[in-house]
Amino acid sequence: MREFEYLQRELDDLRQANLLRRLREIVSSQGPVVYTAEDPKHPKILFCSNNYLNLASDHRVLSAAAAAAKSWGFGAAASRLICGTMSPHRDLETEFARWMKKESALYFPSGWTANQALLTALPKKGDLVLMDRLDHASIVDAVRGGQADFRTYRRDQLGRLEKHLSNPAYRRKFIVTESVFSMDGDRADLARLAELKNRYKAILIVDEAHGLGCLGPTGGGLAEELGLTDQADIIVAPLGKAVGSSGAMIASEQTVIDYLINKARPFIYTTAPPPACAAAALQAIRIIQTEPDRPKRLQDKASRLRNRFSEMGLNIGQSTTQIIPVIVGTAEKALDWAAGLEAKGFFVLAIRPPTVPKGTARLRISVQSEHSEDQLTKLCEVLLALKK
Ligand SMILES: Cc1ncc(COP(=O)(O)O)c(C=O)c1O
Repeated sequence: MREFEYLQRELDDLRQANLLRRLREIVSSQGPVVYTAEDPKHPKILFCSNNYLNLASDHRVLSAAAAAAKSWGFGAAASRLICGTMSPHRDLETEFARWMKKESALYFPSGWTANQALLTALPKKGDLVLMDRLDHASIVDAVRGGQADFRTYRRDQLGRLEKHLSNPAYRRKFIVTESVFSMDGDRADLARLAELKNRYKAILIVDEAHGLGCLGPTGGGLAEELGLTDQADIIVAPLGKAVGSSGAMIASEQTVIDYLINKARPFIYTTAPPPACAAAALQAIRIIQTEPDRPKRLQDKASRLRNRFSEMGLNIGQSTTQIIPVIVGTAEKALDWAAGLEAKGFFVLAIRPPTVPKGTARLRISVQSEHSEDQLTKLCEVLLALKK
């Protein structure tokens, strides 16, 4: 339609700037190897998924989902507050709260919704929200849409955060951070953030999207690894990554959970997630807690890969986890490298602005616990050839 020509013009501009995005179709289940619709006969070694522990296709997780679908049906049929709260939702919430050592937990349809719900409901006019300048879009957009003032800080310059925290003009202050940063693979300095939040009586919110399942003695995340679970006043934990299911948890005091149930519009006005997703997540969470070898295997492989990348002279930023950015600079170069990898049997996506700052386009390499040594070695060989 002529009325949509203005959209086409914008899309053309994006293409010109190497920033056009398109959907890639996978025609197999998720795992270290996948098949794409464009090339369904040749396997692609996958290095860009968040299926860090390979639980998305674990037979026990699949059985739990299938059994739940059989018992409970698939759709939840209504929002949680109408008639959509079913036993698998409650079972998951009880287990998650116990795991995080919090009074209560609430299950949301996605991490995006959880952050929207939390960050539009709790901070009020007259409050100040302080977020890391590279926090995930779900945090940034939620805070921007909320009623409170907000500022960003750099995690390598926490003095600025402290300056904002010491501003007496605000009634309450919230600090919102990812635990493991999704595009950089580095970790928040939770010990220092906890110290600051205590000194200035702020509320600390930790999004464990990329820490849950990957760090900590029982896979509970970065806060657990540092023995700081009690310092995170509110934990947000998307379940579509290491947990291999979908949806997200918020764990905190009962008052916070009751408030979200009563006041958070993104929780109230949406259909409850399918009970089978909750059952799959519960099974995966039990596996994570009882198989500590999985996150250990993941981090050992990631550590070896980071060392090899550094030896090869690749710029991996400050990564210390299973997310390893290979920062190449321009969007064009990132696309070239991704295409070069694909030609050699790898599937790694180019991450470009606005997802990452201009000039830092990258390949976001993410390791899975079940990647083989051979797959890691081949990846290094192809990257080295691309670098040359
Ligand atoms: C830090 C962080 N929070 C929240 C989300 C959103 O979670 P979901 O994909 O479940 O909406 C993501 C997703 O990538 C994320 O990286």
